[in-house]
Amino acid sequence: MRVKPLTRREILENCIVRGLLVASIPLSQSKLLAFWQQAEARPPKLTPENEMGPFFKKGAPEAAMLRVPGDAGFPLRVSGNILDARGEPIEGARAEVWQADHHGLYDLKGYRYRARLAPSAKGAYAFETVMPGHYPDRVCQHIHFMVTAPGHKTLVTQLYFATDSVFAGDPDKNYTRDPLIENRELVRPVTLVEHAESAHADVVFELSLQKA
Ligand SMILES: [Fe+2]
Repeated sequence: MRVKPLTRREILENCIVRGLLVASIPLSQSKLLAFWQQAEARPPKLTPENEMGPFFKKGAPEAAMLRVPGDAGFPLRVSGNILDARGEPIEGARAEVWQADHHGLYDLKGYRYRARLAPSAKGAYAFETVMPGHYPDRVCQHIHFMVTAPGHKTLVTQLYFATDSVFAGDPDKNYTRDPLIENRELVRPVTLVEHAESAHADVVFELSLQKA
């Protein structure tokens, strides 16, 4: 005999009745069900796209350390995860990053401050660099990302920094001073990590890709 599969609503109702889905605040069963369904129906939070720009160059080496001793600029560590729209890590994801150096210059002859990252099996990535400089054609400091993953659309985007002087301490209000920043979410908070005799900036940038 074929058993008719339960609808999502019926599964949730069963979970509520059996105490497998409970609310952290007092809620009627119907309200709990409505909230849960509403949350599940919310559109996935994808990392916004942003312009590719003119300075991408194929063939960047695989690297996680982009700066070398003696480089000018404030040390910066960027890390995050490559995820699908539901927040699950994507196996086989790849990412490339490229940026200007501290002086606002892109290396067009070689591969300084350009790298192919090697995310872990769980999609985690990290690299060490310096805070990019400002350059004449662009308003804000930024790092370019291109992320690919099996079964997903390629994500081309840029990371910006809440500490950028252009935002004058208020990126919520001032992020549009750079006309290329169409989405506030691309401006990430910066954590200062102090060591015995030095310090570095730390930024987390999650990369969530849309299914192809
Ligand atoms: Fe750029």
